[in-house]
Amino acid sequence: MIEQANCISTGHLPDPALVQGLVTQAHDRFRSVTEGRVADYIPALAAVRPDLFGICVAGTRGEVFEVGDSDHPFSIQSVSKPFMFALVCQAIGEEAARERLGVNSTGLPFNSVIAVERGADGLTNPMVNAGAIATTSLAPGDTAEAKWRFIRDGFSRFAGRGLDLDEEVYRSEAATNQSNLDVAALLAGYQRIYFDPVEATDVYTKQCALRVTARDLAVMAATLANGGVNPLTREPVIDAIHCQHVLAVMVTAGLYESSGDWLYETGLPGKSGVSGAMITVAPGKGALASFSPPLDEAGNSVRGQLTARLLSAELGLNLFASRPAAPAPSAPGSTKPLAPAAPLSGI
Ligand code: DON
Repeated sequence: MIEQANCISTGHLPDPALVQGLVTQAHDRFRSVTEGRVADYIPALAAVRPDLFGICVAGTRGEVFEVGDSDHPFSIQSVSKPFMFALVCQAIGEEAARERLGVNSTGLPFNSVIAVERGADGLTNPMVNAGAIATTSLAPGDTAEAKWRFIRDGFSRFAGRGLDLDEEVYRSEAATNQSNLDVAALLAGYQRIYFDPVEATDVYTKQCALRVTARDLAVMAATLANGGVNPLTREPVIDAIHCQHVLAVMVTAGLYESSGDWLYETGLPGKSGVSGAMITVAPGKGALASFSPPLDEAGNSVRGQLTARLLSAELGLNLFASRPAAPAPSAPGSTKPLAPAAPLSGI
């Protein structure tokens, strides 16, 4: 049993006018970027307009800053993975979840089959498709229908509003889902899937087709930055202890094989999805979400990455950034005068 620390590293977002100014500036600066390609392996995604671009920052104290298409709905896709892992940690405990799913980086693309074969005993992590389908299979409920209800309800509590299924995206992906079915069958061979593989893949596909906006994702991600309490509704969604584990796995594998580059540039946990969504979490402070469909080769939104890099730096969010501190008054070499020494008697 891991004890929770009494002290946590935290802080808050800068002044609201500054945050809104920077969010607007990021949108102005990157909306003309035309690199990247809209995902087309899920037919329904190929039809999405590439110029859509929305950004939203949500603070842990309930502040919301938005610009552009922040209310445009899209399917959550892989950005669902950290929230599903969070709900499973809450349901079965973080150690049981780690034992059954793994938490190490695969260094391989999101849909890799080799990752399962190379991983110790078929383990991957909850951010890649294999580990994510296994995570979904652990959702409480004896039937696919019960698992789906648990997922939709949990995600809705993260968002602070009832989320629904994008039927068109779900049907489109379900009809072209052979590679995820193959991954699930492989997991079954390693006994690393905990429900019927075909049904688990179907529930996972529905989970990926939940309809959200950038604003929803910012609030959901800010819940992970806020000890598991939704900063707008104030509803506790998961226990605080699970947030740190979810964020750790996002750091390790949230951007798949480019997770190292991402961390080097932003210094923050992040997660991307093929619909063009990205979330970036600043523990204790808040979260950033963006939606812009064109993706790079690794399947990550081009404008989303630029936005996260700019806002992480300008909002002072990078977890690894530091400045030389003034020495404590008692530290050796302190320039602050020490209390005058008591006069020596007899001199
Ligand atoms: O399972 C899939 O392939 C999709 N439903 C989700 C993949 C995804 O979003 C990868 N992210 N960059």
